[in-house]
Amino acid sequence: MSKFKAVSRATLSATVTVTARANTRHALLASLAVSCLFACSSTASDVAAGSGGASTSGGGSGGAVTSTSGAPSGGALLAGGSPSGGAPAAGGSAGSTAAGSSGAGGYVPSGPCSPPLDIKQPLEKLSATGCMSASDPRKLADFVIPYDVNSPLWSDGALKTRGMVIPQGQKIHVLNCTANSAECLYGPEDDGRWVFPVGTVLVKNFIFDDKFVETRLFVHRDSKTWVGYGYQWNEEQTEATVVPDEDRTVMFDTGQRQVSWTYPSRYNCMLCHNKLGGSSLGPETRQLNRTVNGENLLEKLERLSVFDAPLPKPYLSALPTPYDSFEGKPPAGASNEDLARSYLHANCAFCHRADGSNSGTLDLRYGVTLANTNACNTQPMKGGAGLSTFTLLTPGKPMESVIWARMQTLDDKNRMPQIGTYVVDQPGVKVVSDWITSIQSCQ
Ligand code: HEC
Ligand code: HEC
Repeated sequence: MSKFKAVSRATLSATVTVTARANTRHALLASLAVSCLFACSSTASDVAAGSGGASTSGGGSGGAVTSTSGAPSGGALLAGGSPSGGAPAAGGSAGSTAAGSSGAGGYVPSGPCSPPLDIKQPLEKLSATGCMSASDPRKLADFVIPYDVNSPLWSDGALKTRGMVIPQGQKIHVLNCTANSAECLYGPEDDGRWVFPVGTVLVKNFIFDDKFVETRLFVHRDSKTWVGYGYQWNEEQTEATVVPDEDRTVMFDTGQRQVSWTYPSRYNCMLCHNKLGGSSLGPETRQLNRTVNGENLLEKLERLSVFDAPLPKPYLSALPTPYDSFEGKPPAGASNEDLARSYLHANCAFCHRADGSNSGTLDLRYGVTLANTNACNTQPMKGGAGLSTFTLLTPGKPMESVIWARMQTLDDKNRMPQIGTYVVDQPGVKVVSDWITSIQSCQ
């Protein structure tokens, strides 16, 4: 039925590793990375330029950091915020050579679950990072603030749990486009986005059938640098080990089924977690305006004093959950349009924004008017994705809309996003398709 060829994933051997996916350095993504040389964090360009070196060092290295990480209790580097001279200082200078342009010499990790000393030498064992509980390696440590979002990124059906660590004395700044329009360079649609302080660590776990496959740490190492690390869980679920800086695909046995899972390279983390997109992607006021265990998450965070100013009241309206999923159900009475726009905001808009990046001119942020998305009855810049009659979004006609076509194909040239997912999000496609069907005109 589909006009698109579903390219099946390279035949995977039943057990462990098949390395680098063919599209890792996809030409188009590479062009995105080139713009990163100017616009993104130094890390993205750093990693883009020298990923070979990074992957080796990520692997088996015996340097100061790794040996420290062997200590089950967190070791010297993590020793409760003491800016202890000795080893960390020595590592610091080694680190600044390796990190090159980041110019972050003198950095000392401020406590458990901090960015590593040398961004190319993350702690090898997740247990040594201090982000997880010492008594139960699958639980977040008790100082990690758990949160979730209204409108999640599609991650091939994984259940995800999330948490944040804000360094002592530091605060989150929330963009307020009304009071301070200068901080919203790309318009009022960026209202309520969060800017995390240096030292922040964000954590996300990926779980299938109650079994952890990956934990990701996204760390704000210095004012210019965020870095992401993936940790691969062992069969016994007692420990996870840092993934070298390359895409790695495995067959993951949940005990109930085999799931094909790709750990993204650090380079690929940064294509999504790009600077214009906001680096950190989930936490924003509309995403966390939700009730968990009887308390609104925003109220809880205000109670924990994580913000540098009170959030404007009433809170910005919640992004609706697009379809029935781990994050909940769509709110009663939400329109097709609202659900689809929430989905596109959460899954696409960190790359497709009004900032002239080279993903085209689409602006899929929530709140941008249909006309201003630059999609409706607009010819694509990058072809029809296999359709014969098309615009980016043709009112009433999903099957003549490139947005729809790119969402429902697995063809490596056309699928969207091109990284981070390898299974079509059927309910997501339906939400967007229903919306396009309901549109009568571009105004
Ligand atoms: C396909 C794009 C994509 C890729 C690739 C990707 N992420 Fe994310 N990530 C997201 C989005 C979107 C969110 C927010 C939505 C959510 O949490 O479901 C997110 C959330 C996170 C979070 C929670 C904090 C936050 O920023 O919202 C962490 C931690 C994280 N990602 C780490 C990583 C790491 C580490 C990598 C690479 C190993 C990576 N991600 C690769 C898109 C991506
Ligand atoms: C990691 C960044 C990234 C994410 C996430 C992403 N895209 Fe894209 N998108 C791109 C890039 C890069 C291109 C240019 C691709 C090309 O040259 O074919 C593109 C192209 C497109 C185009 C064609 C634009 C044109 O003018 O021809 C459409 C439509 C599109 N994406 C839709 C989506 C949708 C829908 C989503 C979310 C479900 C999404 N994208 C998520 C990076 C991204």
